[in-house]
Amino acid sequence: MELKLVRAKASELDVDVVVVLEWEVSPRPEFAKLLADLYSSGEIKGKRLEFTLLHSLEGYKARRVLIAGAGKREKFDAAALRKLAGAAVRFLEGKGISALAFALDDDIATPAHVTAVVEGAILGAWEPDYLKTDQEEKNKPISSILIVIQSVAIQNAPAPTLEAALQKGRIIAEAANLSRDIAVEPPNLLTPLILADRARRMSDACGLSFEVLDQDRMRQLGMGALLGVAQGSAAPPALIVMRYTPAQAASADHLGLVGKGVTFDTGGISIKPSEGMEKMKYDMAGGAAVIGAMQAIALLKPSVAVTGIVPAVENMPGSRAQRPGDIVTSLSGKTIEVLNTDAEGRLILADAITYAKQLGCTHLIDVATLTGAIVVALGHTSSGVFSNDDQLLARWMTASKDSGEKMWHMPLDDEYRDQLKTVYADIQNIGTRWGGACAAAMFLKEFAGDTPWVHVDVAGTAWLDDAKPSLAKGPAGIPLGSLVNLALNWQ
Ligand code: BES
Ligand code: ZN
Ligand code: ZN
Repeated sequence: MELKLVRAKASELDVDVVVVLEWEVSPRPEFAKLLADLYSSGEIKGKRLEFTLLHSLEGYKARRVLIAGAGKREKFDAAALRKLAGAAVRFLEGKGISALAFALDDDIATPAHVTAVVEGAILGAWEPDYLKTDQEEKNKPISSILIVIQSVAIQNAPAPTLEAALQKGRIIAEAANLSRDIAVEPPNLLTPLILADRARRMSDACGLSFEVLDQDRMRQLGMGALLGVAQGSAAPPALIVMRYTPAQAASADHLGLVGKGVTFDTGGISIKPSEGMEKMKYDMAGGAAVIGAMQAIALLKPSVAVTGIVPAVENMPGSRAQRPGDIVTSLSGKTIEVLNTDAEGRLILADAITYAKQLGCTHLIDVATLTGAIVVALGHTSSGVFSNDDQLLARWMTASKDSGEKMWHMPLDDEYRDQLKTVYADIQNIGTRWGGACAAAMFLKEFAGDTPWVHVDVAGTAWLDDAKPSLAKGPAGIPLGSLVNLALNWQ
C-alpha cells in the first residue's frame, strides 16, 4: 500500500475519494447546510461508523466524498480513529475503490493519530483469502492512501515527526499482517518446521540473529515437557529463537517475548470433541504475534535487547503420544505429572520460559491461546493478563493502552497453587474444574520463578469468528501492538 502525507485542504484535493470525519451532536456547518435534506431526514447523524458516500459534492474537487461518522468529538481518541480508518477502507473496497485520501482535522493531526490512521487502514485492508484461486472472488485491496493534514497542524507537529509517525504505523500494521498471514495458514501447510522457516525468512530480511533448536538439541538440553507434547506427532518440533540487539542499550535489561506455537491442537490422547476442532489451527497465534513483533522491533530499533522465543509443536494422538499419567522432567529440573494432554500449552511454555531465562532474559512476556476458561471469563473483548511483578504489569498495561488492545488484569493468588499439587511429581498440569485460566497461569508462574513476568491469555481475542467493520474475520493480529510498544517505551 502506498502511503503519503500531504498538506492540503480536503476540498481542494483532486482525487477519486476523500474521507472527511463528521461529528455527532456538532456537525460541520458546511455539510449541514449543503446536505440539509440528508441531515433533516436523519440519514446523516455523525454516529460512529456511519458512512455516506456522495458524488460530486459542491465545493469539493474530489469525485466523491465519504462522510464518515466519528461519534462524539470528546470521546474520539486514537483507538477510535484506528477503527474508523479500517472501517472506511473496508467500506470503500466493497465499492471497488482503490485509492483514497483521508482528511484529518487540525486538532487530531498529531503523531498518535497519524499512526492510528495508517494502522487502521493497513489492518482493515487485510483479508484471509490467500488460498482462493478465483481472482474475481478475492478482495481487491486499496492500493494508495493520502493522509491529508490541513494547515495548522504542521506547525504543532513538524512534518518529520508526522512522517515518522506514519512509518511507525506502517511498520506495526505490516508486522501484524505478517502475523495474521502466518496464523491463517491451515495446519497441513503450517507445521512447526514451516513456522520456523517463516520466522527465519523474516529474521534474515530484517537483520535479526536467528536460531532453531531441533529435537536432538532439545533432548540434549533436557526439554522433557516440550518433547513430551511433540512426541505424538510425525511432524518434528522446533524451538525458534530470534534476537534483537540494540546498537546502544539504555540498560542491562533484556526482554524475552515467548509465544505459544502449537500448529494444531487435537488435545492429544485427551482428545477434543470434533465440533469446532478446526479452530485449533490458531493455537500458534501467540507465536505468530511474537514473530511479527520481532519484525517491527527489528525495524523500529528500540534501545532494549529483545529475544523472541516460539516453542513450535503439533499436539497429536499418535501411537507415540504421551499419556495421561506420564511424568516428564522439564528443562528447569521440575517433574510434571501430565494428567491431561490437552493442557499442552503450559508444558511447552514451561520449557520455553526456562530457556528464555537461561539465555539471560531479565523480563518475560508470554502470549498464548492457553485456556478455554479465559474465554468463559472475558469473552472475545479483553485478553487476560497475569503477572508476578507489579512494575512490569504496569508497563504492559500502559503499552496496551497505546495500542488499543484491551487487557484485563486477572488474579494469581497463592491459593491457586494448591490445585496443582500431586504426590507423584513436583506439579501436575491441570487444576480443578473452576478458575482454569488462573490455574494455568499459576503453572507458568512456577517456571517464571522470581523473574518479572507477564502472561497474556489470548484464547478469546486472537481470532475473530466474524468480521468486524474494521477487520476481516480470522486472526486479529493481537497483541502485537502492545509487545512492540512495550519495547519502544522501555527505559
Ligand atoms: N488451545 C487450548 C485452549 C483454547 C481453547 C484456545 C479455546 C482457544 C480457544 C488449550 O491447549 C487447551 O486445550 N486447554 C484446555 C485445558 C484444560 C484441559 C485444563 C482447556 O482450556 O480446555
Ligand atoms: Zn490443548
Ligand atoms: Zn492448545
